[in-house]
Amino acid sequence: MAKLALLGGEKTNPRGHKKYPVLIQADRDAVNRVLDREVFWGIYGPEISGLEEEWRQYIGTKYALSCNSGTAALHMAVAAAGVKPGDQVITASLTFVASALCALYQNAIPVFVDVDPRTFCLDSKKLEAKINEKTKAIIPVDLHGMACDMDEINDIAKKYNIPVIADSCQSHGALYKGRKVGTLAEMSVFSLNGLKNLECGDGGLFNTDHPEYFDKANQIRIFGEVIKKDIPREYNSAEIGWMYRMLEIPAAYARSKLTRLDDDNAVRVRNAEYLTKGIKDLPGLTTPYIPGDRTSVYHYYRIRFDPAKLGLKISPNEFRTRIQKALQSEGAAAGRWQTRPVQKQILFLNKTGYGYGCPWSCPHGEGKTVQYSDEDCMVTQQILNDSITFYDPIYPPNGIELMDRYIAAFKKIWENMDEVLDYKLDPNDPILGSREA
Ligand SMILES: Cc1ncc(COP(=O)(O)O)c(C=O)c1O
Repeated sequence: MAKLALLGGEKTNPRGHKKYPVLIQADRDAVNRVLDREVFWGIYGPEISGLEEEWRQYIGTKYALSCNSGTAALHMAVAAAGVKPGDQVITASLTFVASALCALYQNAIPVFVDVDPRTFCLDSKKLEAKINEKTKAIIPVDLHGMACDMDEINDIAKKYNIPVIADSCQSHGALYKGRKVGTLAEMSVFSLNGLKNLECGDGGLFNTDHPEYFDKANQIRIFGEVIKKDIPREYNSAEIGWMYRMLEIPAAYARSKLTRLDDDNAVRVRNAEYLTKGIKDLPGLTTPYIPGDRTSVYHYYRIRFDPAKLGLKISPNEFRTRIQKALQSEGAAAGRWQTRPVQKQILFLNKTGYGYGCPWSCPHGEGKTVQYSDEDCMVTQQILNDSITFYDPIYPPNGIELMDRYIAAFKKIWENMDEVLDYKLDPNDPILGSREA
């Protein structure tokens, strides 16, 4: 039996993996085009307009806007939905904090719904119970590259006449019942930060079919002004706006990367499916679940562990920690995306907000009465305790050869499970970043 790298044996994957993103000459040419033109900014800049039009066509909505982050795009959408101080906005408890921050930016109160243990997306069966007369937007999160149960969510939202804003920041190019993610809600938003399937360092995109949402989001994006192309600017803000403008260089780079998004996603899918096939029969682990009516573009690849399936009496958190440590020692980049439910972050536990408890203490609402209870994030907490994520090993230019080494690492660990369980863990080991929740 091969000796575990954890105990001084040879690493299964000594060379690691290639990091994302990988630049090609076309990306450099796109950026040079901007440098040569010497036009670097302006909401109607040629690269920005080009990106908005190409993205609009790629997704298939009537309108698309660019901005400088996914968080900005979320805020534009929440503001465009007319969310006001004291209103409530529902989102998932397993997501990036920005899905909830965007509500706070409007002095509204985030309310969380737990996620489904298999899809990791907002559990549509738990949504309706969280809706009340203050609910003014629902933000399902298309997590890890895959759409939520959008039909069920839209049906519930329609019943109460609440707009849905899809946080699709992790799901560029994914499909749901043959339709593109980005077309499934009143408004959809995407992040272009350096980690995303489509990235340009930092940036965001906003899609809608509704002219009123488009106009409002456009205005909020730029100082609350209406700035028309080729018409002298009036400098007359009609409402609070922010400065969420994108820049020409990232826009040019994003356009170049958009031309290969589908190809890059196909590599992610091939790698992920190959890895799944190679490890899914190992007892005590669950590979990603992709319902038959949708595709995943595998922004992250999450594996859950269950020690009870191996007859072990240790906690899922400890088991996950041991496997994660053993994988890392073998040279497999086993990480954790998020370590706690969003509502268990200090911001929500302390409800400090802007200070004086705002917006929870805002007199326009009853934000103080919103409780962030453990019950609303039990599944999220279990997932975060018992799972690891793989990120760029799944991404191009990494391929099947790397996946073979990852499969070998898993098999070696499973063959040596007794040693993995006996290994003395250092609770302060910084590479683990793990904590008992
Ligand atoms: C689900 C989700 N929502 C929102 C965001 C925010 O995007 P950005 O970092 O571009 O502001 C991210 C990415 O970080 C995300 O993963």
